[in-house]
Amino acid sequence: MRTIDILKNTLYFGGQNTVELACEFRTPLYVYNESIIKNRIENINQQFINKYNNVDVFYASKAFLNLEMAKIINESNLGIDVASMGELFIALKGGFNPKRIMMHGNNKSIEELTYAIDNNVGRIVVDNYNELITIERIAKKSRKIVKVLIRISPMLSTINTHKNISTGQADSKFGISLEQSDIDKVFRFGIDSSHIEIKGIHFHVGSQIHLNQNVVDAINITFELIDYLKSKFNFVCKELDVGGGFGIYYTKCDKVKPIEYFLDAIHKTVSKNIEKYNLLLPKIIIEPGRYIVGEAAITLYTVGAVKKISNIRNYAAVDGGMTDNLRVALYQAKYDVMVANKASLDCAETYTIVGKACESTDKMFEDVLLPKLEYGDILAVFSTGAYENSLSNNFNKILKPATILIRNDKPFVIQKREKLEDLIKNDISL
Ligand SMILES: Cc1ncc(COP(=O)(O)O)c(C=O)c1O
Repeated sequence: MRTIDILKNTLYFGGQNTVELACEFRTPLYVYNESIIKNRIENINQQFINKYNNVDVFYASKAFLNLEMAKIINESNLGIDVASMGELFIALKGGFNPKRIMMHGNNKSIEELTYAIDNNVGRIVVDNYNELITIERIAKKSRKIVKVLIRISPMLSTINTHKNISTGQADSKFGISLEQSDIDKVFRFGIDSSHIEIKGIHFHVGSQIHLNQNVVDAINITFELIDYLKSKFNFVCKELDVGGGFGIYYTKCDKVKPIEYFLDAIHKTVSKNIEKYNLLLPKIIIEPGRYIVGEAAITLYTVGAVKKISNIRNYAAVDGGMTDNLRVALYQAKYDVMVANKASLDCAETYTIVGKACESTDKMFEDVLLPKLEYGDILAVFSTGAYENSLSNNFNKILKPATILIRNDKPFVIQKREKLEDLIKNDISL
């Protein structure tokens, strides 16, 4: 559901004329369509929350977060997953009930853990032994019992996604390895602590996953562990969080499956393991980020310099690039693109679309076929709702774009374009 129309040679997104949006709000511009976000949340409700008992969903806010997004999630029945004090701060400012917040991070600082515990977040996902000791110390001081999930690395040998967004392999900075000594140390400490309650186990195999087998394998491995923990420590796993990562459509190379392809397989695999090991069904938790917001936004750019290098290639530069979309440089992400003001014209020329940052790797598209480009044309890049705004940066002191949300057929600014003054607001001139 991308809500795209073409009328009189112009691209419309969420019912809005994108060329007029570019003119009114300037470019680069992130344009979110709230109806797509709501539609994705509704799919999750239908295919998981209303379909199965004892399940829960936390939106992975690293995909896209600001006050309005926190409010949208808060007004749904989803919880929120945060991975830093900054994300936690925004979730709280967005009105989130702390009990519905899950705190992640592979190296949470004492300050972050204290902030999370002081604010009574519902769950902390513990990444390592040191963190567990720190939580115990903070919890003891504030006379609290902190509810945690233990993040493990399922140590999968195959994860079908880009290596830079795989997390569940043996060689990973995330989670506790399945080495028996590592597992014993963490669970022994957590179970013996009177300030920690281990509610269950967490894993996340990676992102932009198109094969449910990856999650199925991780669940099977996790149940071997759960069975071991039961016999060794009499531990009961009440919650099993299988992470997010459900793949979305960027280009026709993405073999996208409906969300139930993953969710049904997850539920079925957990149920099979329950029978196999004679266990009680734990609460099954998922943490989708990209699935909820990825296809809900486009980014609009204005074309500037157009260069033809004879017998080599045509370059067209846009007014953004790796500062508002780092995914291309980080993991060679691919997107669909359209010339918003020439939406019905035949594709006539091949262009390499580059950004404006002083880096040769600031390339958005290599050799893409488009209508003939001219100075001032508006480019629309699709599926830019997840990890574009949230990975944006100020390299070259380029100002971060504005973000607008289309709600009830009207565009609203939900994050202002940065101003020059923002660039020096933390500088101290001696
Ligand atoms: C622990 C965890 N959960 C959930 C997600 C969400 O992944 P996605 O946005 O691909 O659904 C991530 C992404 O990095 C993650 O690290």
